Amino acid sequence: MNTIDRIAEMQAAAKALRDAGKRVAFVPTMGALHAGHLSLIELAKANADAVVMSVFVNPAQFAAHEDLSKYPRPFERDVELAAGGGVDILFHPAAEEMYPQGFQSYVNLEPVSMHFEGAVRPLHFRGVATVVAKLFNIVKPHAAVFGQKDAQQLTLIRQMIKDLAFDVEIIAAPIVREPDGLAMSSRNIYLTPEARAEATVLSQSLGLGKKLIAKSEPSPQVIVSQVRAMIRTQPLAQPDYVAIVSADTFIVAEELRKGETYFLLLAVRFGTTRLIDNLLFTC
Ligand code: PAJ
Repeated sequence: MNTIDRIAEMQAAAKALRDAGKRVAFVPTMGALHAGHLSLIELAKANADAVVMSVFVNPAQFAAHEDLSKYPRPFERDVELAAGGGVDILFHPAAEEMYPQGFQSYVNLEPVSMHFEGAVRPLHFRGVATVVAKLFNIVKPHAAVFGQKDAQQLTLIRQMIKDLAFDVEIIAAPIVREPDGLAMSSRNIYLTPEARAEATVLSQSLGLGKKLIAKSEPSPQVIVSQVRAMIRTQPLAQPDYVAIVSADTFIVAEELRKGETYFLLLAVRFGTTRLIDNLLFTC
């Protein structure tokens, strides 16, 4: 595996791959790799001849009070996992390489950035869209893999691709979970043992939602209130939002329509740690 930290060098390597007729799949990450990220590499490999992964903790998507400095950066371990997973090129730029002095271009999507994760993290999605657009211009991939775990991010990136005519195929990867159902996340390490035990309620409540949907419960409001009630049975769990939204637009569904695809979304706080999870379903 080749590790590159300069933009010009990555662009030259991307050009060489394209000139050699290789199909390139790209997996953007912030590192602290876990089995969820590795599943993205697998999907990338299955869809391309060469896989480029980026490891970049993007300052533009963290608010001043958020965990930018605390965000785990186990780089040597990431290098081993990426190489073992079959990544061909690891792109690992410094913050000054991506955002040099004088940087002033941002990609802003509205309204998809404004609700749910965007409501608690106002500039978060502007940072995500900006860095992903820049990474696409550097890596020039034919395809890019994003996890369904970050459902709003996935919808946002698809919208950006459409609006700005990026010639990149977006591949969605299913959520990888711990054996007890907790969705894997670099932030799970912040949970206290008590909160970690209670956190299984996220996937369990999605399971309840799935059952109600399978029984053709017609009302999104009924599904949402039962899921919320189940989360509330755990003393440390504070639901931030529970909602059913259109998978295309992220607009809240007032009713469920046959043939339409939705996300049942959850965000739950355990003290200062906020976890998200979701169920993707088609009626
Ligand atoms: P990060 O949180 O490192 O996630 C990188 C990718 O891994 C995202 O597409 C995310 O949805 C996916 N992922 C995380 N946990 C997963 C799980 N349990 N199962 C499957 N996929 C999972 O998302 C980001 O980084 C950043 O916002 C980024 C897109 C890199 C822009 O900075």
